Amino acid sequence: MKIAVAKGDGIGPEIMDAVLRIFDANEVGLQYQFVEMGKWVFDKGYSNGMTPDAQRTIEETGILFKGPMETPKGKGVKSVNVTARKTWNTYANKRVFQTLHGVETVFSRGGINIDLTIVRENIEDTYGGIEHMLTHDVALSRRFITRPGSAQVIRYAFEMARQKGARRITCGHKANIMKQTDGLFLEVFYEIAKEYPDLKSDDKIVDDLAMQLVIRPDQFDVVVMTNLQGDIISDLCAGLVGGLGFAPSANIGDHISIFEAVHGTAPDIAGKNIANPTALLLSGLAMLRHLGFTHNAATIENALLYTLEQGIRTGDFGDRSKPALNTTEFADAIIGNFGKTPEVGAKPIIDNTPTTAAVCHLDKNPMLVSKEAEDEKIVGVDFFIESTEQPNKVAEKALAVTGDLFKLVTISNRGTQVWPKGSIYTNLVNQFNCRFESTGDIAVSQTDIIELYRRLAEQFKVCSLELLNMWGDKRAYSLAQGQ
Ligand code: NAI
Repeated sequence: MKIAVAKGDGIGPEIMDAVLRIFDANEVGLQYQFVEMGKWVFDKGYSNGMTPDAQRTIEETGILFKGPMETPKGKGVKSVNVTARKTWNTYANKRVFQTLHGVETVFSRGGINIDLTIVRENIEDTYGGIEHMLTHDVALSRRFITRPGSAQVIRYAFEMARQKGARRITCGHKANIMKQTDGLFLEVFYEIAKEYPDLKSDDKIVDDLAMQLVIRPDQFDVVVMTNLQGDIISDLCAGLVGGLGFAPSANIGDHISIFEAVHGTAPDIAGKNIANPTALLLSGLAMLRHLGFTHNAATIENALLYTLEQGIRTGDFGDRSKPALNTTEFADAIIGNFGKTPEVGAKPIIDNTPTTAAVCHLDKNPMLVSKEAEDEKIVGVDFFIESTEQPNKVAEKALAVTGDLFKLVTISNRGTQVWPKGSIYTNLVNQFNCRFESTGDIAVSQTDIIELYRRLAEQFKVCSLELLNMWGDKRAYSLAQGQ
């Protein structure tokens, strides 16, 4: 079986060589096709950070095992790590956090065992990077949360939880504030939960979740989250089990999957052969299991856990009174411990059943389907306009252009209503949202809105607009604070 391997930048080549040496010593039946990705590929002039050959090889093999990669700063290029996840629709980022016997943490000292999996949506949210300066003072990031994108990752989380034998699956969110975006994610979570009655499904607001994870991480089993919140919470969880050196990550898609460590290129220790290869090794073990090499994965993991239990360590963790091994010596110690069983957390040895990644070409996009639109109508529009005037003055100008079809219902600034009612204590920036709704609650057309735009543009610079839609009797937009 062939997989694509990109060694990466900084400590990438050192830790990748160590991990591949461990795989080879365990006679893992994989062939590596080394591909060119990372900083030096950007430097060669490939703006997405990978060569066309690399892209072809990854698409043919369906698996990319990668070291960390640096994004050149200040060159306007996007991270190759994020490009890879998005290009190949690896929509679920799975990170497993387990107490490792021998890696001392406050929880291991307190006898609290952690075994939790975070599934983070990997494509959408603010990571779309769709950002604009609307005025010199106001930046806007568009946060897309979609029904099919949410369903894809949530279904994966439920399936994975069932396979793992989990009892509980929790949705982390901020739907109390972001009622449309996080509200949609939470709604889809509970829709899918109905198909998995064997699992206890519940939800937690993300700030509470963060606190609960720090107080009693052992109460959680599987947690599924949107992209940014999941990113932050999963690094918090890395801290619970000993830091980034122990945090593996699998980016799972239907056709291509990417396995990598959570940490970066560690430029401060690159080239010194002292980096800890454990996180990359754990990611590699997740890849072996994904490909059906369960026997190899369990043998290597037991050797790793046994090695950690012996107090063998690299310089970044463990008992500082004991000497630290370098990367090569640490890998040799693991190889020397093949066949040994750790006292705690030994993995059962299950025969290999290799699977081949199915190579497929998308001829139709399965996500281009939508819920049947029921009684859908446009009832108004939000115009975001630039102005340094006071709300009453803005209102006066906006009221003058409403015409017969529209009424001005509210003006808000940074989401807080400042007209018709407001507080003199609300600080203003130079961008207002003027919300126009149709008079008599009737549907209006896009042409009506263009006409209103034309009239409003004579008074203000219009920075952006959003339609106000109704689906049946459900409002498909949020109210301003205080509206
Ligand atoms: P980093 O994770 O590279 O380093 C943070 C700290 O942790 C450093 O002190 C480093 O020495 C230490 N560290 C990290 N991995 C280690 C290991 N395996 N063994 C021992 N110590 C380790 O984060 P930083 O400095 O923010 O990022 C450096 C570069 O890595 C940036 O260019 C960033 O864009 C890139 N990066 C790439 C990622 C990826 O390829 N998936 C993920 C995160 C960052």
